Amino acid sequence: MIFSRHFAFLACAARASSNVLRPRQLSLEQCPGYAASNVVDKGGVLTAELTLAGPSCNTYGDDLTDLKLEVELQTETRLHVKIYDAASNVYQVPETVFPRPSSAACSPADSALQFSFTEKPFSFSVIRKSTNETLFDTSDTPIVFESQYLRLRTKLPESPHLYGLGEHTDYFQLNTTNYTRTLWSRDAYGTPNGTNLYGNHPVYFDHRGASGTHGVFLLNSNGMDIKINDTKGQYLEYNTLGGVIDLYFLAGPNPKEVSMQYSEVVGRPVMMPYWGFGYHQCRYGYRDVYEVAEVVANYSLAGIPLETMWTDIDYMQLRKVFTLDPDRYPLEKVRELVTYLHDHQQHYIVMVDPAVAYQDYPGFNNGADLDIFLKTDNGSIYKGVVWPGVASFPDWFHPDVQTYWNNEFLSFFSAETGVDIDALWIDMNEASNFCPYPCSDPEGFAAEAGDPPMPPPVRSNSGRVIAGFPADFQPSGSISRRLINRGSDGNMLGLPDRNLIDPPYSIKNAAGSISNLTLATNLVNYGGTTQYDTHNLYGSLMSSASREAMLTRRPERRPMIITRSTFAGAGTKVGHWLGDNLSDWDHYRYLIAEILEFAAIFQIPMVGADTCGFGGNTTTTLCSRWAMLGAFSPFYRNHDGDTSIAQEYYRWPEVAEAAKIAIDVRYRLLDYIYTAFYRQSTSGDPLLNPLFFMYPEDANTFPIQYQYFYGDSILISPVTEENATSVDIYLPNDIFYDFWTGERVQGNGSWVTLDDVPFTSIPLHVKGGSIIPLRASSANTTTELRKKDFVLWIAPNATDQAAGELYLDEGDAIEQPHTSYITFTYDKGFFKMQGSYGYNTTSVISGVVVLGASKPADVKSTMLYDASRGSLTLKAIVPLSEDFTTDMRS
Ligand code: GLC
Repeated sequence: MIFSRHFAFLACAARASSNVLRPRQLSLEQCPGYAASNVVDKGGVLTAELTLAGPSCNTYGDDLTDLKLEVELQTETRLHVKIYDAASNVYQVPETVFPRPSSAACSPADSALQFSFTEKPFSFSVIRKSTNETLFDTSDTPIVFESQYLRLRTKLPESPHLYGLGEHTDYFQLNTTNYTRTLWSRDAYGTPNGTNLYGNHPVYFDHRGASGTHGVFLLNSNGMDIKINDTKGQYLEYNTLGGVIDLYFLAGPNPKEVSMQYSEVVGRPVMMPYWGFGYHQCRYGYRDVYEVAEVVANYSLAGIPLETMWTDIDYMQLRKVFTLDPDRYPLEKVRELVTYLHDHQQHYIVMVDPAVAYQDYPGFNNGADLDIFLKTDNGSIYKGVVWPGVASFPDWFHPDVQTYWNNEFLSFFSAETGVDIDALWIDMNEASNFCPYPCSDPEGFAAEAGDPPMPPPVRSNSGRVIAGFPADFQPSGSISRRLINRGSDGNMLGLPDRNLIDPPYSIKNAAGSISNLTLATNLVNYGGTTQYDTHNLYGSLMSSASREAMLTRRPERRPMIITRSTFAGAGTKVGHWLGDNLSDWDHYRYLIAEILEFAAIFQIPMVGADTCGFGGNTTTTLCSRWAMLGAFSPFYRNHDGDTSIAQEYYRWPEVAEAAKIAIDVRYRLLDYIYTAFYRQSTSGDPLLNPLFFMYPEDANTFPIQYQYFYGDSILISPVTEENATSVDIYLPNDIFYDFWTGERVQGNGSWVTLDDVPFTSIPLHVKGGSIIPLRASSANTTTELRKKDFVLWIAPNATDQAAGELYLDEGDAIEQPHTSYITFTYDKGFFKMQGSYGYNTTSVISGVVVLGASKPADVKSTMLYDASRGSLTLKAIVPLSEDFTTDMRS
């Protein structure tokens, strides 16, 4: 039997029921809440003591009797409310993992929000001062603060419009009846909806139309169920397995402002390299380096631009991180492949997992020497089972773990002697463990599971000629299938006496018990925190360490790291792909809400799904549509499962055609989205926008699930039904321009049916009021693309005005001393370009195009009128080095 997470899941032990009533244990309804005393109100800062207001209920652990309240108006739009134990013994998310935002307490008069409270039982509310509306109100239900359970409930208005609380594949606008969102990182093959997935983002946006939007972020890394229900009034309730109540309220008042304010709390997204926005190809199951090379060659032969080639765990020797399979991926050939890619302005990325084979080899021995692996309480290295079989797991809290990780990266990924990767892919960092809890016999489990799935040698190597690759690169001989070579084989921080394996309160973890198929939650990290408290941080910790390691290799270059597991704030370090989706129409649809969650709410804008789907077999029509839709995700990668049919875009003529068109448009718009990405990295202004972000007062937009804005200006409205060629799209009351035909369309807040949308197209509309910089033509690589000139598309709004921006930099370096930030405005024929022009480029603006223009009485020689597109073009050569103005009408 091969390793299979399905198998492991089925085999998982039935969840033990732990809710045995202990003496003194009362139901939640009998919990007394707290009473406030010693209230000190200094204006922007308020503190109080909270004391248990009656007999303990001890429902899911012991009630803490003494708490502290700290309230701070941190900025004009941010209020911080923290309730924690007076003794400060309860685990809190470490500052090293999540640096707290700076605050300079603002005076109550300047704050958009007001905090008020009731002393006994203690409850509090948050009010928007401008409308006197209550945004958060805990008065219905007393706070419960126990050693293994926190409860905090807020009343909400009827039928609220809530978004966020991921990672999930549910509706973008959250269900508000009997809905539970569980946050507990999980290796979630198939990303089923209604379940906890890879990452954890306890933040929601509450959109109340014209009266404003606000955000609420709970900084807590413990496992939790967030319940939204409308029995006995609408409410949202946090139920956590520990930690403290650490809430940030963000006043907005518009949705984009909430995003920006959230980015001040979690940190601004890190800038990604320009080339990272190119098209990426990956698959699990490329059997050898020659097959990888073949794919590169085939893309070239098919005329489909390929920016970056990826390799999954297939490159490793028997799935061991920091090794190369000497037969399938010999170092010399891998280096030749990378050289070939670099010579062709292409890039190479491989995967690294956190699980290190528990075997006698340097990758493990170096870690063991530094003693950086997680250990059991008897001091032995903790063992689970992942791709290489029995595996150990880095303790990212260990002071020497960075040294270990850096050293492995420096040697294995050495530019001179190793695998010279350009960026990194990290996976399985929930952390995933195939061995069900209690995993008492990892060797036995691994033996039963058998060898890891290697792709069978489907073709003979003889006669394979890889076009474009040198003769000595061609494979020789055959490669045998090899079996796995199995190797021979503190002080705790946080409250004591907790049941770290089977807490009395059960969250709805889809994997069952919280230790199942992951690291045992009673493991103690270096420094004394436990996996129980820090499980949800494992992926982010690996992300930080990996970013450091990549920087050690190449301190001057922006690391692009794509991770599977994330916690709030991960965008400051990494991007994210949506994990193991399936090649079906549901997953094609889910991705829209998911990329919106990550980019617009969680501030992780480098995000995208495996196009054409990972698990199962794709189809021509699905892959064509997905090639088009995926082109409008910030991260655009085709990735495929090892048992699925191959799905490189060149496999089907229809898909190849769709992909060429998609990549062509994506590349022409690359600087537009790069500019939006830059904006988000400096201000938090999201580069993808749900419709209600752009039309916050249009209630029809609130539930829209399958349309979004790419940047602020391009409305994406994909066909979403299997094999359909028409789609109903919502057009808000605004002017739009069909991207393909230039036709001006007056939206009127209703649904419109678009017929005849071929599989090689996707409906795109430019929002009136925008100016979009496009490259005049596309290119085979982003390096070539950067040499192309620009055209500007002016899409006037109802008052005949428009505006847009263009950011230019060198694209790859961390320090960018020479950048340009150019703004374009258009006002009734008058075009103006102004800004800073630090970046030296030979590209010019070779045309300024006004969409939806009527033919001037006199078309001057510098102008061109295109009657079929209804566009008027100024044929100018405008260098991107100084301000420029012109009157397009005179
Ligand atoms: C995980 C990843 C997937 C990868 C596979 C093998 O399932 O999510 O993308 O292909 O592991 O490494």
